[in-house]
Amino acid sequence: MESGPKTREMFLRAKKAIPLGVNSNFRYWGDDFTLVVKNAQGGYLYDQDDKKYVDYRLGFGPVILGHNDPDVHERVIEAMQIGNAYAMTHPYEIECAEKIKAMTGVDLVRFANSGTEATMHAIRMARAYTGRDIVLKFEGCYHGFHDYTLWNCQPPIPGCGYRRNPVNVPQCSGIPSRISDLCISIPYNDEEILERKVKDNFGNIACIIVEPLMGNMASTMPKKGYLEFIRKICDEYGIVMIMDEVKTGFRIAKGGAQEYFGVKGDLVTYAKSMANGFPLAAIAGPTKIMGEIAYQQISHGGTYCGNVVATSAACATIDAIEAGALDKVNAHGKKLADGFKKILAEQSVPAIVQGPDSMPGIVFTDKDEVLEFRDWAEGDHGMYEEIISEMRQRGVMPDADSREPFFTCAAHTDEDADFTLNVFEDSLKAVLGK
Ligand SMILES: Cc1ncc(COP(=O)(O)O)c(C=O)c1O
Repeated sequence: MESGPKTREMFLRAKKAIPLGVNSNFRYWGDDFTLVVKNAQGGYLYDQDDKKYVDYRLGFGPVILGHNDPDVHERVIEAMQIGNAYAMTHPYEIECAEKIKAMTGVDLVRFANSGTEATMHAIRMARAYTGRDIVLKFEGCYHGFHDYTLWNCQPPIPGCGYRRNPVNVPQCSGIPSRISDLCISIPYNDEEILERKVKDNFGNIACIIVEPLMGNMASTMPKKGYLEFIRKICDEYGIVMIMDEVKTGFRIAKGGAQEYFGVKGDLVTYAKSMANGFPLAAIAGPTKIMGEIAYQQISHGGTYCGNVVATSAACATIDAIEAGALDKVNAHGKKLADGFKKILAEQSVPAIVQGPDSMPGIVFTDKDEVLEFRDWAEGDHGMYEEIISEMRQRGVMPDADSREPFFTCAAHTDEDADFTLNVFEDSLKAVLGK
């Protein structure tokens, strides 16, 4: 679907000032298709040509209550009366940390500004705490833009080697190849490979960083007992388990994946869904690790960490989540997922609809289940992209990248779900009829 004339004109203007016309490579969909937003309200997004979309990208997930939420904005405007960035402690960040402690059961919280920062700091904390350097991650998991984990996020197959011993492939140029020595990446959901790699690298692994469900791979779920197995291995070998809850935190349950799956990480990173789209992230964990953050022990900081705007937005967002906002988020997502399954079955299209209600993902595949990146990679992603393009044309906006799930928010209505399912059915039929 080509964008409208005003959107295109604005995009070409953006390209003259910003590489690719976007401020994150993931946002570029080609010169003819990349949108420039005019405004967003509730569950909807409008482009420069005033074309309306039901938004299931929600800024890659964070807008859990809906765009321009009046309560969040009111709280932010009120808070801004006292200023914003002092680089000193203020009541909003204390209140926000207390709310996170109460909702998730963690001991201590430190704020950052993005998921990338949060995972980078969590890895440093794990290294400092253990005195070891190696990070173990999983193929297909993404933990942000720092060099330590930008390996095998979406590697070429067979370029990333044999699955029992994957070859690390960097996400892009500019990542020093020597950093690869500090990263082991293995398939998700395979206990035997995990245990062997940990034994082979005995005493050298600082942390296992894991997306408790693969929010960057169409919401692929952990096998029953898999997160418990990682927990057990970390306990046995003195490894810090980092639950990267940047996508799942405060979305799939009030207490995030720790509550949803009943497994505790040692360190947890949060970002999206914390502040309804205002830039805020957190690293949280037990006093035994977080308490080591001290002058010249474990260093953490940042000029904007815990500013008034972001923390007051988070206070309002967490209040709404505590008051039950996730019920709506889940109900909408469940209606979508059930509808997708029914339509796909009626059209005899082999596919898996997976993940929790608030972030369902779709994989077009003949397989009975998707357990790891290499399963997912065998899916028909061209078909996915074609369907999403048809959906966008008809006014529904999931991300075109088949790794992204459909994110739902509390502002999505029942009518939006009906509309979306009709659009999905029409789009699927259009692609099948081609
Ligand atoms: C699991 C996970 N960790 C970390 C990040 C990085 O977060 P940010 O984009 O805020 O830097 C993301 C972003 O999508 C993510 O999904």
